Amino acid sequence: MLQKPRGTRDFLPDEMEARRSIEGRMRDVAHRWGYREVCTPEFEDLELFTMRSGEGIVEEMYVFEDKGGRKLALRPEITAAVIRMYVNEAKVAPKPIRWCYFADCFRYERPQKGRYRQFWQFGVEIIGADTAYADVEVILLAADMLDATGVAYDLKVGHLSFMKNLLRDLEMPSQRRVMAHLDKKDFDGLAVTLDGLGKPEIRNSLTALAECRSLDEAFEIAGTIPEKDRIEQTIGLLDASGIPYSLNFGIARGLDYYTGMVFEGFAPNLGAENQIIGGGAYRLAHLMGGDDAASCGFAIGFDRVMVSLGDVQHKKETVVGIVCTNEGRKRAFEVAHAFRTAGIRAEMDLLGRGLGAQIAHASRSGDFIAVIGQREAESGNVTLKNLQTGEQKTVDLGKAIAEVKAHGAC
Ligand code: HAM
Repeated sequence: MLQKPRGTRDFLPDEMEARRSIEGRMRDVAHRWGYREVCTPEFEDLELFTMRSGEGIVEEMYVFEDKGGRKLALRPEITAAVIRMYVNEAKVAPKPIRWCYFADCFRYERPQKGRYRQFWQFGVEIIGADTAYADVEVILLAADMLDATGVAYDLKVGHLSFMKNLLRDLEMPSQRRVMAHLDKKDFDGLAVTLDGLGKPEIRNSLTALAECRSLDEAFEIAGTIPEKDRIEQTIGLLDASGIPYSLNFGIARGLDYYTGMVFEGFAPNLGAENQIIGGGAYRLAHLMGGDDAASCGFAIGFDRVMVSLGDVQHKKETVVGIVCTNEGRKRAFEVAHAFRTAGIRAEMDLLGRGLGAQIAHASRSGDFIAVIGQREAESGNVTLKNLQTGEQKTVDLGKAIAEVKAHGAC
């Protein structure tokens, strides 16, 4: 028997309904904050991601050549694609731009619970606002969106300038190697790399930075930083907002494009793959031929949120089983159509079963059955049975629809 590719999943209807219901909650929040949805291709020129996405992600990409010899990649994330689209299509749009997306990404990782090769992200990007207000907005929006799903999480906020100040004497590729160790909290690897770079003395400062939890302490460890005022403004606004979060200056992020504020969220009930959100401030547009637009955003790991939530209860829709005799079949099509037009889910027999078998089948998943025999076909009435109460009556179609609607509303 053929199986699905490793690291991918099938979703049956119950799971899809749960996923759509949680996605809908995120969508509602994004909409209320003024973020409009965009969509980019599933594959892009490989170069888009090799440009600045970071070595980790490049190694994990699905890369292929098309029949025209073009080097393409399945998108491992959406941010780079959104900024490419901004440069291609919307450079002159009034700033700030607020966009959101819900889309699948592909990473060739070792699959395990919460880590897949195809997974979905719900993300947002603000383009063209180089302020503490924009940094704060994305963090507050992230919290609002996660709260709407009901997931439990710890939010950690940091800023790259502390780490970058300590690493300022190193070349960019060496800085990236050091930050990759910090991102993975691999302190042994960090020590080896710093020794190799002839900078063992920075190790203590970096470790102290990763462990410190106050702004004053971070400034003490990392020295003078030009972004000090903006950082203090961001943290001041976050504190005033009252959202629960903690400071963490060890956050390095796995992607190379971040420039300032960075943040991550973790679900305490998940195991190794517990990071459910990541984001921050970054600059990418200038690398793609655009202006040097400051941007910030985040992506929620949708699948991890679903794993963390466990069994999601969503509002069950009212279902009417349309049950008919051969004489009633033509009228039954009309009745089903009328229910559906009224917004009610109506299902008809497809197997030509007898009335008893149809009723038994409809009773398994339905809330009502509407019986259409010869009598009903001639009179235009419907015999409606409430499967929960057992109550049954023959009424005209309009009344039957009203009754089912009233049930769905309570
Ligand atoms: P990221 O941290 O690489 O950031 O991914 C965001 C989230 O996607 C992660 O926190 C995690 O929940 C989820 N995720 C990542 N890999 C997997 C996987 N293999 N299986 C399941 N879930 C996964 C970004 O992608 C940035 N583009 C976020 C961003 C937007 N920064 C600014 N704007």
